[in-house]
Amino acid sequence: MTEKADVAPAGSRLPYIILITSVAAFGGFLFGYDTAVIAGAIGYLQVRFNLSPLMVGWAASAAIWGCVLGAMSAGYLSDRYGRKAVLIGTAVLFALPAYGSAVVDDLTSFIIMRLLGGVGVGAASMLCPMYISEIAPPHIRGRLVTLYQLAIVLGINIIYVINLKISQAGDQAWNVANGWRYMLGSEVIPAVVFFVLLFFVPESPRWLAAQSKGDAAKKILEKINGSAVSLKVYAEISESLHDEKGGWRDLMDQKLRKPLLIGVVLALFSQITGINAVIYYAPEIFKSIGFGAESAFTQTIIIGLVNLLFTCLAIWLIDRAGRRSLLIWGVAVMVICLFATGICFHFHVDQGPWLLIFILGYIAGFAVSLGPIPWVLMSEIFPTRIRGIAMSLATLVLWVGVVVITQLTPYFLETFGGASTFWIFMVNAVIIWIFTFKKIPETKNRTLEEIERSW
Ligand code: GLC
Repeated sequence: MTEKADVAPAGSRLPYIILITSVAAFGGFLFGYDTAVIAGAIGYLQVRFNLSPLMVGWAASAAIWGCVLGAMSAGYLSDRYGRKAVLIGTAVLFALPAYGSAVVDDLTSFIIMRLLGGVGVGAASMLCPMYISEIAPPHIRGRLVTLYQLAIVLGINIIYVINLKISQAGDQAWNVANGWRYMLGSEVIPAVVFFVLLFFVPESPRWLAAQSKGDAAKKILEKINGSAVSLKVYAEISESLHDEKGGWRDLMDQKLRKPLLIGVVLALFSQITGINAVIYYAPEIFKSIGFGAESAFTQTIIIGLVNLLFTCLAIWLIDRAGRRSLLIWGVAVMVICLFATGICFHFHVDQGPWLLIFILGYIAGFAVSLGPIPWVLMSEIFPTRIRGIAMSLATLVLWVGVVVITQLTPYFLETFGGASTFWIFMVNAVIIWIFTFKKIPETKNRTLEEIERSW
């Protein structure tokens, strides 16, 4: 068994590790950017293309359907062609459709471009955390994967401000003609940066080992862990692989049932506890209870900042307190705040600061638990030989959760009202709290191979 102290990287190797992690985490930035950009553009697109409410739904959600496709295929492709090659492919899928969606002049082409861009987002959403987890030394793996979640939150916040600045640059007519083009087209810049940077990161040593490219794998492990430790790590990796080939049928393996259940359930509940409903519909929710547009914007910015701040707290805590404790405490806070938010709506005490306070509490609870931890656990609980396809499956379920919540929230708010909508999210949060308590083991400080042997 690998000793904890053994795998600690010397200080001099840390900058290299952080550098390659940051490049991979940049995929998260594009994920946040791309999924949030549409919120600012959709109003102008509606006027420009004269869209019916149904078509507005399609234009807004086309990318998310693309994400489902991307998540579905990236695992298989990355097991076959390598993590790095497929990541480079996702960068192309971020850049070209972003440009395309900014220059098209008809709705069909627009929807096709958004769908293609979404394929890139879906693929990157599983590949980036998986890549980080495969290169990371165990005792800081949680933090490094959480950097990816931090990048997602940054992406969401930055495009929100960019969208606002663009919309203020001209009047309504200018925005209908051009504003949305700048919003969508702005993504080309970070996408090209991502594309270029990816050429400087190494291939995942675990994938190389699975391809019997032992020498190349050892070289990278040495750069990350130092020469003494890298031999031990390599021995552990090859033992865990010992000529078993992974495939879809292996997902049915009795031994994998538990990690698969954990991955899929966490992915789903990270969504059906309502996070994106709150993030994306926050301005609408605040406006609907009487806030002016200007203050609705301020509230939304505050929500973004709290999300960012508490994700930083998660980075600090995840390898200390562990994944399990963070989930248990964070989700408990979410449950209490969702309940209280429902009460505010029910008794119409929603005009005061209370609603904002409880929503912020909910965001803080999410940011230390169901925000980063599903990505961390999904990237570390599956054996290397099937990590790609297993993570694809879990990520696919996550995106289906995104689709369900974005489609149903406006309907829920309209039909059942704010109180019941938040209480539905609360019931889901209670379920995932119980599930965590009963089923989720602690994985901090263990190598991926140790985790694999524990199932
Ligand atoms: C997580 C969720 C994502 C959400 C984000 C917000 O990454 O998976 O759907 O938008 O957190 O912080």
